[in-house]
Amino acid sequence: EKGGYDYFMLKEIAEQPKAVADTLLGRIDVSGSLRLDELRMTAAELREVDKVVIVACGTAFHAGMIAKYAIEHWTRIPCEVELASEFRYRDPILDPRTLVIAISQSGETMDTLMALRHAREQGSKVLAICNTNGSTIPRESDAVLYTHAGPEVAVASTKAFLTQLVACYLVALYLGQVRGTKWGDEIHVVIRDLSQISREVERVLETMEPVRELARSLAHKNTVLFLGRHVGYPVALEGALKLKELAYMHAEGFAAGELKHGPIALIEEDLPVVVVVPSPRGRSVLHDKIVSNIQEIRARGARTIVIAEEGDEAVVPYADHLIRIPATPTLLQPLVATVPLQVFACELATARGNEVDQPRNLAKSVTVE
Ligand code: M6R
Repeated sequence: EKGGYDYFMLKEIAEQPKAVADTLLGRIDVSGSLRLDELRMTAAELREVDKVVIVACGTAFHAGMIAKYAIEHWTRIPCEVELASEFRYRDPILDPRTLVIAISQSGETMDTLMALRHAREQGSKVLAICNTNGSTIPRESDAVLYTHAGPEVAVASTKAFLTQLVACYLVALYLGQVRGTKWGDEIHVVIRDLSQISREVERVLETMEPVRELARSLAHKNTVLFLGRHVGYPVALEGALKLKELAYMHAEGFAAGELKHGPIALIEEDLPVVVVVPSPRGRSVLHDKIVSNIQEIRARGARTIVIAEEGDEAVVPYADHLIRIPATPTLLQPLVATVPLQVFACELATARGNEVDQPRNLAKSVTVE
């Protein structure tokens, strides 16, 4: 069943290029436009949407955080993202023009289900992004966009996360396409890039041996920090979550800009800090800011583990360990930047003798609130 792999998680990490490609399949037509009749909303209805609210838990929440950047940039519709477990308790402002997106691999997460029920009671439309056919969340939603990751067995979510990202990008781009935003040209370029991204994920997987070696060398550590900016921030949170779940280590993700507001006090000699670096092309101001963050922490003794695009030479002098990822448009970078973090956590857990597929205290789907 594990297809020759020692753990389901390893198998599922390896399946990511296919999962990504399968989730795109049939949703982009020959002219390079999106076809998402599954949304079950007419173009007129989609043009009425004046706010998007995303609810999810855990890894799916991190996908939602990344979706917010994409939705607001490509559509200019305000987008909020909230932990499903917090959502209904603060009496959120919802109405029929709010599109609520519930993201869930299992489709059975009770917190997410309760959030979507609350949204529907207020008259909002709910779109589920889900990996499990016929599960409760899609059954109770107005529409569903399935991710085609195939069954995910390991408790730690990997391929489901990448396909959730793909589904979120598709929704964002489709909203942009239907509403004819000023990003029209960019949208076509992104759809093309997205249709080629599974090959890039595959390339990342081919270069993971040094990441495994590095993980094994850090097996005795107590703490690992993760930093990112923009979409790299949720990626940092996801890297930290994987490490907590699997390696039972103290792991925290921060927005790199927050460092000087507190977390920099944690930096001490030889503390491993993973930094997700945005592309130096495009929004280069982000890149320059993070390069100075890397300098700051290194000057205070951190052992820097830098994830940066191929060809980014500016980071080289400050990287104790350099993990290269292919160049991608900024908003799509999480699809390639997350993969080394999954491999890192899985290998570290193995080196510590932990049960990778079934970490202590955790269940694959959390069906209680
Ligand atoms: O099935 P769901 O996507 O609704 O699950 C949400 C979270 O429980 C899940 O992502 C959890 O955080 C994973 N164990 C993360 O690896």
